[in-house]
Amino acid sequence: MNIREISFLTYILKCKTFSTPLSDYCIKNTVNGNGMSLLAAYADDENSSILGFCVLNKMNFKNISLDYLLVREENRRTGIGKKLLAAAINYAKEQGNVAVLARIIINTKEEDLSFIIRNKLLTNYGFQITRTSSIIRCNLEKSKPIWYNFMKEKGEKLIARSKAKGFSVVSFAKAGGLIDNLKKKIKDEFPRELNPTHFIDNPVDKLIPELSFIAVKNNIPVSYCIVTTVDGKALVFQQLSVALKYKRTGVFFLPFAAFMEQLFLQNSYHKVSYTVLDTNKEMIKLVNGFLDSFIESKKSQNFYMLLI
Ligand SMILES: CC(C)(COP(=O)(O)OP(=O)(O)OC[C@H]1O[C@@H](n2cnc3c(N)ncnc32)[C@H](O)[C@@H]1OP(=O)(O)O)[C@@H](O)C(=O)NCCC(=O)NCCS
Repeated sequence: MNIREISFLTYILKCKTFSTPLSDYCIKNTVNGNGMSLLAAYADDENSSILGFCVLNKMNFKNISLDYLLVREENRRTGIGKKLLAAAINYAKEQGNVAVLARIIINTKEEDLSFIIRNKLLTNYGFQITRTSSIIRCNLEKSKPIWYNFMKEKGEKLIARSKAKGFSVVSFAKAGGLIDNLKKKIKDEFPRELNPTHFIDNPVDKLIPELSFIAVKNNIPVSYCIVTTVDGKALVFQQLSVALKYKRTGVFFLPFAAFMEQLFLQNSYHKVSYTVLDTNKEMIKLVNGFLDSFIESKKSQNFYMLLI
């Protein structure tokens, strides 16, 4: 077996019998990096078949992200995964990177086996968990009456209180220069673990301007939410973030409520997933206080890093 870098064309031609929609997605979704590399494990020379591959996404700040690792089912448990991972780490070093990032999604309903394997692979090479989050999928049909009830009992009061204090909310579709203003403030004035710039102008994880909102006071962004779609059918509520200065003021609710209202008005999406970082207190508050009653499935994801 030998491992070499392959082109996108070789991926299309030689990996299509075992590649997955997720590997295709990871390859397309490299827009905000500095390019993508594919490493493949050939059975023998370049004319032989490919037994597995990994997708490396070159990020900013001398980090490389291992976005996907896949071995043909019939060739698993023979050490190919480990060799691809070792090759990826070597490749990252040769390219002058300082860290390799990786992410694992764990479907709690599935058997834990795949998690154990992937976790084992990464931890054996010294990767450490940097943060964890949940992906929560909700059924919109079920949530509609619960949402309107919640608004009547609690939500409307929260919004009225914020409005009385001079806060308002605007969609990305109508935000104009506020979006650049938000981009400028992200680094210093918002929690660092969330960054909306990855999703702004991203052709794969497309931001939906009519469903993403910024709350403002005196024309200054105080909180925002980012909602995206890949296929125009399923929605992902990617981020809800509040400026550090406005923590515990309740302004996180403004963009979230505007999103929910608009979502039910448009009525064109049926499923929505919420990404919730375990450190995002505002989002956790919403999940526990409101979303919990119509969760259909819940997955966890771990983010790993290896300093090289
Ligand atoms: C995860 C995956 C890439 C591993 O590839 P692989 O070639 O089978 O892995 P290896 O043979 O190198 O094994 C790596 C380790 O996992 C263990 N392992 C692999 N399959 C296992 C299984 N079915 N049960 C228990 N342990 C297993 C191996 O024993 C080895 O452990 P060791 O380091 O202690 O010897 C492969 O299972 C796969 O393609 N899975 C589906 C796609 C996927 O989940 N990709 C990750 C998304 S980012």
